[in-house]
Amino acid sequence: MATVKAVRGTRDLLPPETELWNRIEATARKVFARYNFGEIRTPIFEDTGLFARSVGEETDIVSKEMYTWEDRARAQSEKAQSLTLRPENTAGVVRAYIEHKLGENGQLQKLYYIGPQFRRERPQKGRYRQFWQIGAEVIGPPFAGSESPLRDAEVLEMLATLLDELGITGWTLEINSVGSSADRARYNDVLRAALVEVAPKMCADCQRRAVTNPLRVLDCKVPEDQPIIDGLPKITDSLDQESKDHFAAVTAALDAAGVPYALNPRLVRGLDYYTRTTFEFTHGGLGAQNALLGGGRYDGLSEAIGGPKAPGIGFAMGLDRLVLTLQGQEQTVLEAIYVNTPSDAYIAPLGEAQNAAALALASRLRKSGLRVELGDGTFRLKKSFEIANKLASRIVILGEDEVKSGILTVKNFLTGVQGKIPREELVTLLKKPAGEFDGQP
Ligand code: HAM
Repeated sequence: MATVKAVRGTRDLLPPETELWNRIEATARKVFARYNFGEIRTPIFEDTGLFARSVGEETDIVSKEMYTWEDRARAQSEKAQSLTLRPENTAGVVRAYIEHKLGENGQLQKLYYIGPQFRRERPQKGRYRQFWQIGAEVIGPPFAGSESPLRDAEVLEMLATLLDELGITGWTLEINSVGSSADRARYNDVLRAALVEVAPKMCADCQRRAVTNPLRVLDCKVPEDQPIIDGLPKITDSLDQESKDHFAAVTAALDAAGVPYALNPRLVRGLDYYTRTTFEFTHGGLGAQNALLGGGRYDGLSEAIGGPKAPGIGFAMGLDRLVLTLQGQEQTVLEAIYVNTPSDAYIAPLGEAQNAAALALASRLRKSGLRVELGDGTFRLKKSFEIANKLASRIVILGEDEVKSGILTVKNFLTGVQGKIPREELVTLLKKPAGEFDGQP
C-alpha cells in the first residue's frame, strides 16, 4: 500500500535540528524583551477578506498563493464565510489591534509573533508552502509617536542587533521609501504612462499589472523584463517633501547608530499596504530566495480594514531561512549544538522486578535536574552496558540487592571507574563532571 507522505512544500522538523530552531526563537524572545515587545498570538486562519483588503487583490499572495476554503457549516447559508490560512501575520495583528481597541490607552503597541504561515508557492530551497516567521509590529495612534522616523530606525537597529546575536554574518540591509499613499497614487500614474509603450514587450503578468496595479510590475522576477524595469521612472522621484524628510530622518538615525545599509529605489515589496520606509535584509548564502526578512511602514492599513488611524511599522523574518543560513556558515556554533552530549546517567534495572524501582529512581534524578535514560529489565547486563555506553556518561545498576540495600553500583564510562554509592549521594555524584577522576565512579 502506498505510504502517506508530508504534503509537497511542507516538512517535518526533527531533532537535533529543532534544537537550532529553539535557540533562534529563544534569542529572538530575549532581544524583543530588551526592546519592550510583548508576544501576540493570532489565529492561523482568518476571514479571507482581511487579506484581500490589506495585502491587496493584485498581489501574488492574494491572487495566486492563498489556501482558501468555504467554511463547511456555513457554506449553505447566507452567512457563508470564506476562510484563509494566514499567508502573513501583519494583517492579523492589525485586525487584533482594532478588535481589542489596543490604541485606546494612547501608548505604542509593540508586538511580536512566532508562527507558521502558508503560501502556495513553487517549493525550492528556502521556499516552502508552510514556513515560519518571527515578526514584530510597532503600531499606535499618531500622538503616541507611531509615525516618527525614529521608530523605523529603532526597528532596523533592533534587527541588526538580533541578526548579530544570532551569529548571522554577512547580511545586507536594503532600504527605500515608497512614499505616502498620495505619493504612490502619483507614482502609479507616472508608471502607468511609462508602461504604455514598454508593457507589450513584457511578460503576461506585467501586461496585466501595467493596467491594474503598475507598482507590482516592479516585483516581476522574469529575467527578460529586468532591463525594461530598470529603465522605468523611480518612485523616489515621486516623493513629496514630507516623505523625503521622513526618509532622510530614518537614514540619519541609522548613520548615527552605525547600522550599515544600501539604498534600493526598486524595493517596493510584494504587499500593497506599505507606505514610506520599506526594507529587506538579504544573505548571499541563501541562493535565489535570498531575503532573510522584509518589512516596512503601513500608515494606512488600519483604516483600510475599518479601524482608526494607526500608523505602524514592522517586519517578518523567515525562520526557515535563518536556520539555512546558520547551517551554511557557522560550523563551530552548529557543532556545539549538534554534538550529542551524553545523558548524565543510564539506569539499568537487572530484571523486570526492578523496573518500577528504576522508574522511581529516574523520576527523583530528573526532578533534581539531571538528564536520565531509563533502561529495561529484559535487557540484562550486557545489552544495558552497550546501550548505556552510547547514551550516557554513567550507568547506575539496579539489581535486587541494590534495591533492598539502597547501595547502588555506578560505572563511569569516561574514567572506567566502577564503585558502590548510597542512594542519597547519587545526585551529588551525578552532578560532578564525569571526566574528572578522583577515584569515584
Ligand atoms: P514578506 O516579505 O512576504 O513580508 O515575508 C517576510 C519573510 O518571510 C521573507 O523575507 C522570507 O524570509 C519569509 N518567507 C516568505 N515567504 C516564504 C516562503 N514561501 N518560504 C519560506 N520563507 C518565506 C511579510 O510577510 C510582511 N508581513 C512583513 C511585515 C511585517 N511588514 C510589516 N510588518
